[in-house]
Amino acid sequence: MTAGEARQAFEAAYDREPTAVASAPGRVNLVGGHTDYNGGLVLPMAIDRRTAVAAAPRDDDRFRLRSTDVEGRVVVDGLPDEPLGSEDEAWANYPLGVLVELAREGLFESRGLDLLVAGDVPRGAGLSSSAALEVATAAAAYAVDSPTHELPRRALAEAAWRAETGFVGLDCGIMDQYASACCRTGEVLFLDCRSRETRGVRFGDREYRVVVVDTRVEHELASSAYNDRVRECAEAVEQFDALLGGVESLRDVDRDALVAHAASLPGVLRRRTRHVVTENERVRAAVDALEAEDVGAVGDCMFESHASLRDDYEVSCVELDTVVELAWETAGVVGARMTGGGFGGSVVALVRSDAVEDFRAHVDTEYTERAGVDVEPRTFVCSPAEGVRLE
Ligand code: GLA
Repeated sequence: MTAGEARQAFEAAYDREPTAVASAPGRVNLVGGHTDYNGGLVLPMAIDRRTAVAAAPRDDDRFRLRSTDVEGRVVVDGLPDEPLGSEDEAWANYPLGVLVELAREGLFESRGLDLLVAGDVPRGAGLSSSAALEVATAAAAYAVDSPTHELPRRALAEAAWRAETGFVGLDCGIMDQYASACCRTGEVLFLDCRSRETRGVRFGDREYRVVVVDTRVEHELASSAYNDRVRECAEAVEQFDALLGGVESLRDVDRDALVAHAASLPGVLRRRTRHVVTENERVRAAVDALEAEDVGAVGDCMFESHASLRDDYEVSCVELDTVVELAWETAGVVGARMTGGGFGGSVVALVRSDAVEDFRAHVDTEYTERAGVDVEPRTFVCSPAEGVRLE
């Protein structure tokens, strides 16, 4: 659907056919919030909302980019050394950054390209629309040059991540790009962000559905608070390294070390570390529970994760807390937590199939008033979808 739209819009915009079309999904994360940049564990799932990129090479070094979501087009001659400064063109920094990184890695020959982007991953909803755009661009550009090769999913994820952290300049972890590139249909992705080891864990239970509730709010402090947390974790690493030696990330701190040294840490760093240590434990517990088909235990990990993100990591907000509370109150919802960076965006809930409508109705009637906002939430049911693919 999305791919067809990208192909058609490409033909209309450039009056020729694309030579490659790729699509990549957004994601939710069942457990493992803010652990990725701490070398920790995460458990994302690709959702059936995708971004598609259609591409064709040019004979010159011009890059033309269009999106069905954005008026106008962006044109640059040669790949830029720095992100484009104008606000209207800011969206193009994601695909351009990816092309810069791919060219640097020798995965794409940097002659010109025409690109067209279409998709249905909601933006600003904490569902990784930027990673979907980056990974789909990486795959399309790769396929323009190497049409017969299988996609090097990890290399594309790494290039997409470097584009986001280096070119676009957001200090995020690797979860979103790996989820968009490496997830498989019917599975969640158990990813160790330190070793980059991945394992697909079956999640095909038709009795339960994954429901996303987009709070439709995004607070201003989201990105500055994200960077603050990254900095606080780096400070905690320094303190633990001074105490224990050999600590390169909070992944190297376990519960025993935390308990032994908690009293010597400032309160904020103690709470941040406690979140990361316990969250890594919850990811392992959730994987075990999924493998044992104990959906109730997966749900418990999700509720506990939310409480820890709210109280110890302090990245939630009243809108997210309200939706999680509404989930807790609905019979048949087994677990719910915020997903993404926080301060707005979406909640992911695990819901018995026969309770999905009750949950939706409860959210629809209660959210606006209880959260004190004047936007309607948006709820949709998702299935574990395929990562990046050529179309
Ligand atoms: C954002 C970032 C991810 C991750 C999550 C929190 O989505 O892009 O790298 O840190 O927040 O888990």
